[in-house]
Amino acid sequence: MEAVGEKWREIVRWLGIVVVICTSARGECDFPAIFNFGDSNSDTGAISAAFAPAPPPNGITFFHAPAGRFSDGRLIIDFLAKSFGLPYLSAYLDSVGSNFSSGANFATAGSTIRPQNTSISQSGYSPISLDVQFMQFSNFKTRTQLIRQQGGVFKELLPKKKHFSQALYTFDVGQNDLTAGYKLNFTTQQVKAYVPDVLAQFSEFIKGVYGEGGRSFWIHNTGPLGCLPYMLDRYPMIAARIGCAKPFNEVAKYFNHKLKEAVAQLRKEMPEAAITYVDVYTVKYTLISNAQKYGFEDGVIACCGHGGKYNFNNKARCGATKRVNGTEVVTAKSCKDPSVRIIWDGIHYTEAANKWIFQQIVNGSFSDPATSLKMACHG
Ligand SMILES: *[C@@H]1O[C@H](CO)[C@@H](O)[C@H](O)[C@H]1NC(C)=O
Ligand SMILES: *[C@@H]1O[C@H](CO)[C@@H](O)[C@H](O)[C@H]1NC(C)=O
Ligand SMILES: *[C@@H]1O[C@H](CO)[C@@H](O)[C@H](O)[C@H]1NC(C)=O
Ligand SMILES: *[C@@H]1O[C@H](CO)[C@@H](O)[C@H](O)[C@H]1NC(C)=O
Ligand SMILES: *[C@@H]1O[C@H](CO)[C@@H](O)[C@H](O)[C@H]1NC(C)=O
Repeated sequence: MEAVGEKWREIVRWLGIVVVICTSARGECDFPAIFNFGDSNSDTGAISAAFAPAPPPNGITFFHAPAGRFSDGRLIIDFLAKSFGLPYLSAYLDSVGSNFSSGANFATAGSTIRPQNTSISQSGYSPISLDVQFMQFSNFKTRTQLIRQQGGVFKELLPKKKHFSQALYTFDVGQNDLTAGYKLNFTTQQVKAYVPDVLAQFSEFIKGVYGEGGRSFWIHNTGPLGCLPYMLDRYPMIAARIGCAKPFNEVAKYFNHKLKEAVAQLRKEMPEAAITYVDVYTVKYTLISNAQKYGFEDGVIACCGHGGKYNFNNKARCGATKRVNGTEVVTAKSCKDPSVRIIWDGIHYTEAANKWIFQQIVNGSFSDPATSLKMACHG
């Protein structure tokens, strides 16, 4: 009897070891840091630090003051960081109160993948396009290691060297490359025609990050541009279904189709990388077109704004006080309850919408491959 018991204990011990080996091979990723790149969909303070701060009522719901984000509260990247128990990302450009020990955010509102030939004051597009974000990242990586050696508070505020290869690299960019063409009065055909060049530059950038040691990539595709009031307001003649302008969404879908192809190619060229493509478009479109079903009201009507069909006036955007027609001075204010709105200011999403979107994408249901966020380090 004793011998049989021994044998069983031996087998159980073996099974235990096998289980441990298997789960550690495909276990949850332990990302010590996040490095993010992109536009206002994930800017947590860069444009506010470098140019003009996001005015109140931005931030009212969660931070209770403007917090460098174009939203009433948190962005998808905030929920993403929180899900790993990491602090909200400091913007690389923010010199006040930043702590980069768990990553940095290089995204700036108005960023494009391709550098634009217009200044921020002419067109509103950020001069910190993706190529510049890469240079900043590369510089950050080199300099933080030099400065960290000084010890003390620097050691506490700057990331460890190994964090650059262990980190999750996240991306949400492309939307502004599409709107930039329309702003130059390009036709949809003309906008589509330059998409391959935009994505060629995107791929170069991803390869650059890989060259710097990045291995885990989480790439959002671009959202339904044609459902945003700033596009609907600017091009009112474009026919709308569920309140969304189809041609703009077609362009976004075309971009996403090409992005997915570019990602497939990158997987071949970067054999050690784990790249997850995340279909944020479908999640956002589903939410907007079924707002009531998910507890929201007014799919495309902005919460913070002033007047017009979509509560959006480009001359008096959220938080602005402007003389709209000679005499009348208006302030674009928040709606009563941002928690039941999807669109915050005509361009960006509310905290409630961002949270909902994050909950949809976190488990991998909209990922290719079907990888959940916590497994995004596995190829
Ligand atoms: C910086 O953030 C890290 C990680 O959250 C934390 O442990 C550390 O105390 C922070 N340092 C300072 C000086 O705030
Ligand atoms: C900016 O101008 C250069 C030179 O004409 C051109 O090659 C480039 O494509 C332009 N960029 C954009 C985004 O239009
Ligand atoms: C585009 O068209 C509008 C309306 O005709 C015009 O006001 C604007 O100057 C044009 N923009 C460019 C860059 O040509
Ligand atoms: C412009 O002013 C008039 C008179 O005060 C007002 O009736 C009208 O609604 C204003 N237009 C806008 C766009 O606010
Ligand atoms: C992922 O999460 C969403 C939202 O909670 C849920 O509707 C969906 O069924 C989940 N999918 C999987 C594969 O678990």
